[in-house]
Amino acid sequence: MADVHVSNHPLIRHKLTLLRDKRTEPKKFRELVREIAIMLAYEATQDLDVGPKAVETPMGPSDGFELKEHIGLVPILRAGLGMVEGIWEMMPSAEVWHIGLYRDERTLRPVEYYNKLPVAPTVQVCLILDPMLATGGSAVATVDVLKRWGAQRIKYVGLIAAPEGIERLSSAHPDVAIHLAAVDERLNNIGYIVPGLGDAGDRQFGTG
Ligand code: PRP
Ligand code: URA
Repeated sequence: MADVHVSNHPLIRHKLTLLRDKRTEPKKFRELVREIAIMLAYEATQDLDVGPKAVETPMGPSDGFELKEHIGLVPILRAGLGMVEGIWEMMPSAEVWHIGLYRDERTLRPVEYYNKLPVAPTVQVCLILDPMLATGGSAVATVDVLKRWGAQRIKYVGLIAAPEGIERLSSAHPDVAIHLAAVDERLNNIGYIVPGLGDAGDRQFGTG
């Protein structure tokens, strides 16, 4: 059974609409990617483990909590980069592990060009960050890399998915929870999500 969470938070729906708008310029686009990513990560991390931690307030002792799990943020280059900073501010002890993949425009297959993971995993939970889950090829390849590395718990955090991408990722890796801001209608004949938002990398970086 696919573990898919599509946020219906009003702020996310509002901001996602601005993000989709073709008139939105790269500066505003980056700001929106950052903000929506923070909110999605907040929802995706609701089940993180906490342990007890006692502190002294100015008024006396207080029983509190501290995060027990070490988190890895794994942006897929390049479009996933825009999702890192805001989330990282919310969880400054997270590690950031970049994975470089691009989609071959002819075959739509992912081509890996960069990863610098250490020999053994240093985190308990990995959040894969990528705005677009289209055919699902890039997401599946990234989970494959992380699992070969030894990652135990992996979650995918994306902005917009096509049904085809969800199906592919959840069939290949049913243990990976998928957190999204929206699921769109379909892919077009060149593998773009419709209505989507166009090319997430180009719109962030002002290229294309
Ligand atoms: C985009 C996007 C995903 C991938 C999704 O990246 O950011 O990584 O396409 O497509 P898929 O689900 O069909 O694999 P792209 O290849 O355009 O690279 P870029 O981020 O460097 O622009
Ligand atoms: N990558 C994008 O940036 N947009 C899409 O619609 C599909 C893949």
